[in-house]
Amino acid sequence: MANTLAIVILFASLGAVASQAPAAAPTESFQGSSPSDISSPPAAAPSDTFGSSAPGPSPEGSAPSTSTPPSAMSPIPPPSAGTKLRVGFYRRSCPRAEKIVRAAVWKALSKSPVIGAGLIRLHFHDCFVQGCDASVLLDPTASNPQPEKLSPPNFPSLRGFEVIDAAKKALEKVCPGKVSCADIIAFASRDASSILSRGRISFRMPAGRLDGRVSLSSEALQFLPPPFFNLSQLIGSFKAKNLDVDDLVVLSGAHTIGVSHCSSFTDRLPPNPSNMNPAFATMLQRKCPANPNITNDPTVVQDIVTPNRLDTRYYTNLLKHNVLFTSDAALLTSRRTTRKVLQNAFIPRRWERKFARAMVKMAAIEIKTAANGEIRNMCRVVNN
Ligand code: HEM
Ligand SMILES: *[C@@H]1O[C@H](CO)[C@@H](O)[C@H](O)[C@H]1NC(C)=O
Ligand SMILES: *[C@@H]1O[C@H](CO)[C@@H](O)[C@H](O)[C@H]1NC(C)=O
Repeated sequence: MANTLAIVILFASLGAVASQAPAAAPTESFQGSSPSDISSPPAAAPSDTFGSSAPGPSPEGSAPSTSTPPSAMSPIPPPSAGTKLRVGFYRRSCPRAEKIVRAAVWKALSKSPVIGAGLIRLHFHDCFVQGCDASVLLDPTASNPQPEKLSPPNFPSLRGFEVIDAAKKALEKVCPGKVSCADIIAFASRDASSILSRGRISFRMPAGRLDGRVSLSSEALQFLPPPFFNLSQLIGSFKAKNLDVDDLVVLSGAHTIGVSHCSSFTDRLPPNPSNMNPAFATMLQRKCPANPNITNDPTVVQDIVTPNRLDTRYYTNLLKHNVLFTSDAALLTSRRTTRKVLQNAFIPRRWERKFARAMVKMAAIEIKTAANGEIRNMCRVVNN
């Protein structure tokens, strides 16, 4: 019965997909960076039923400098005109910049793949607060004792800071003062996406961000959606950052990797009511204390099936009610988002493209200008 309904909705969705395909084409211009340095080459791409054939490989760094930013389709109003991100931004000022970041990410992930999840989340948490400006990296100081980093959504769960530090250190040796910490985060999240998807999600990341000088714990609480948000609240948080419902559903797919602390979802474990799959809830109850606190708050993997693979498993888990958060389950509380979940679950190649596009869109939120930004010397402190 439930299956029949799902299939009916899926077919209804496919009609919508087909009719949307041409509109999506213009933003498919950022192409895969060569995945040659990924240990296992990506499997052959499944045939693409919806046109907009994947562009052929193109050497890194030869991107057209005038390429239209991906935000062209759904424009992000420039908060302060003038700062435009560009693919290949460092081609002259630091030609090896992207390779150096990638090497740092690769090194970290080969030791511990889950750090890739940390880097992707770091990018999200950076961009939603003060825009993509590396404000999330700033350490507490006497004059700013409560930066974003120490805010409950970020502390102690946010991770990957050491990878950014390592990349910055390597970059400062080769081209001091040229590459912003905000761009390092954006490149690192792109590289982590590519590595954890085994090259299936590979895309160009426009750059030219500047680092901010403001970082407030209170703003992290204000702008980062908590796991207990319902659908209308989630849509509201994303809309505040010029991201739409499709971006919400597509980017939530990142919960196919990484971990969560028990405290983020105990509100959905028995005896509290939730529509979590009972077997899944029982498994979680075995791993989590009834009342987690800061000294006793274990983590569990978000995707019990393929925890370190950036794939569409999140959506199939979601359809089985095997997801952790209210915010995950919320995606099935409207017909419109349910349809999107089904599309993403059943058409992986399309989700992969959408994820790449949504990451680039998120990476363009509220970019700083020369008036309020700088290129930090050290990612953890503002310049003097
Ligand atoms: C839609 C609203 C979202 C909510 C409410 C949410 C909430 C959360 C929470 C509570 C955790 C677990 C933190 C912990 O307890 O350790 C988490 C983990 C994670 N989230 Fe989200 N998230 C959202 C959207 C996103 C987006 C847009 C991305 C990236 C594109 C993302 C990527 C991740 C990743 C990769 C992890 C695992 C991190 C790790 O293992 O270090 N999330 N999220
Ligand atoms: C979501 O929560 C808000 C605040 O509690 C409430 O006003 C709203 O009606 C809720 N929306 C849905 C769809 O439940
Ligand atoms: C945290 O919970 C554990 C038991 O789950 C308890 O022994 C400990 O005292 C608690 N710590 C704090 C700081 O409340």
